[in-house]
Amino acid sequence: MKALNLSALSILSLENMGKEGGKSGKRTAKYLSISQALRDAIKSGKAKPLEQLPSARQLALQLNTNRHTVMAAFNELIAQGWIVSQERKGYFVAEDLPVNSSQQVKSVAGIGVFQDSKSSSFNWQFTKSVEPSAVQVKPNYRFNFAGGMPDIALFPFNEFKSYTSEVFSRPNINELNYGNTAGYLPLIEQITEYLRRARSLINREIVITNGSQEALYILSQILLCSETSVATEAMGYEPAWKAFKSAGANVVSIKQDNKGMIPSALEEAIKLQIKRNKPIKLIYLTPLHQYPTTVTLPVSRRHAIYRIASAYNIAIIEDDYDHEYHYKCQPLAPMASDDPNGLVIYLSTFSKVMFPGARIGFMALDKTLSDAVVNYKTIINHKVNVPMQDAIARWMKAGDFERYLRKATKVYNQRRDFMVQQLMHYQTLGKVTSFTVPDGGMAMWVEISQSAEQLAKKALDNGIFIQQETQFLVDKTQSQDRFIRLGFAGMHIENIELGLKCIFTLIKEQ
Ligand SMILES: Cc1ncc(COP(=O)(O)O)c(C=O)c1O
Repeated sequence: MKALNLSALSILSLENMGKEGGKSGKRTAKYLSISQALRDAIKSGKAKPLEQLPSARQLALQLNTNRHTVMAAFNELIAQGWIVSQERKGYFVAEDLPVNSSQQVKSVAGIGVFQDSKSSSFNWQFTKSVEPSAVQVKPNYRFNFAGGMPDIALFPFNEFKSYTSEVFSRPNINELNYGNTAGYLPLIEQITEYLRRARSLINREIVITNGSQEALYILSQILLCSETSVATEAMGYEPAWKAFKSAGANVVSIKQDNKGMIPSALEEAIKLQIKRNKPIKLIYLTPLHQYPTTVTLPVSRRHAIYRIASAYNIAIIEDDYDHEYHYKCQPLAPMASDDPNGLVIYLSTFSKVMFPGARIGFMALDKTLSDAVVNYKTIINHKVNVPMQDAIARWMKAGDFERYLRKATKVYNQRRDFMVQQLMHYQTLGKVTSFTVPDGGMAMWVEISQSAEQLAKKALDNGIFIQQETQFLVDKTQSQDRFIRLGFAGMHIENIELGLKCIFTLIKEQ
């Protein structure tokens, strides 16, 4: 057996062995540097299985170090399975090399060589869509007019900190363990009471989720399959469609007008999908502030849609993502509050009343569905972060949650009014064609006098983020290319003014 040619190995250039180690300022023991260099040589294929290594004495001489240091490096590699020692013969690269989890093994001329994961050529066969998320957050926009963005800087962090500190000073040991998948009981109690008072919602089982998105995913997995369809408003929330599609379901766009989904169009689509053998099993709705147009679905349409759903045995997901922010009057009670058949699945979130990173949402469900949801949730993640649930429960119980809601609603109302004033000005210049003052929500739906897609692109080139009609359409071919969505909640009025000025200088005066 031929001994390994050391000059082929980079380990001889270990001049810095045992010296100060990089930014950390920590010394790397010399024997570890040697074992690392040998390991690298083996992984890269420079030293091949069964090849003999130089003796410890030879290597020590060449590396200008002590024989014991080299022996320590060899012993380390033996323990890890990279080399073996043969009595009276010396040290050899092991025949079966240990597989390092971050690397892939590739066969080069019959010899196992470790490849860096960056250069791996493994051919992954994906069974689900793995396109990037529709929710793209880039914090470095000059002006961010994203529609549903709360002003996170308004959040009372100091106040909330006192509740998190209580949580950790008196930890609830039982709750910090597995179990109680439906959620932390004190938070469930607070939400139940809040829904009763603020939304006339009673007799519901609450399941706490990692934001509404997890709820959408769980519901999709247990209620949908590739033989089913979901009816959605023609314009809507893409992350919801993606959850439905992840279960193989077909997403059917239902015509909407300036009042929201049109019930007769829904019934037509239901009949058609039955004929096509892909029956609609779910209707996904944003009735209070239609996403993205913010119009409120009138009571008569709610009743009509409910009657249709009951008649065809279809469940409704009511996504009430920003119920709290309603300015004109008391918001309409959710459809789930008048649900004799128990077919409405109510979803809400703390992403707008706190911040999306809190990842706390909830479902308010009929008893007949909640066990299945909870059982499925255990497969995904057992439960939602308990200290966060506990802190929110305390925050709600003390009344500080609703105090903050009142404050944020007042601020967002002022920002909406300011944006309305501004848009009226741009309307007189002919740059804005039309808009309706939203009764609530966090954004305005604005018709402009040129291509919305082009404007959004130009704005982005200028560091301004705005969303436009086509992005929200299930069927992109239906775009009139005239509407943009301008969020007003997340920005101070000075920035709203400056940002709008920048946007509308990109449109020529009419
Ligand atoms: C229509 C709609 N539903 C739900 C959510 C909230 O999702 P999550 O609770 O997963 O943050 C949003 C957030 O933008 C939304 O726009």
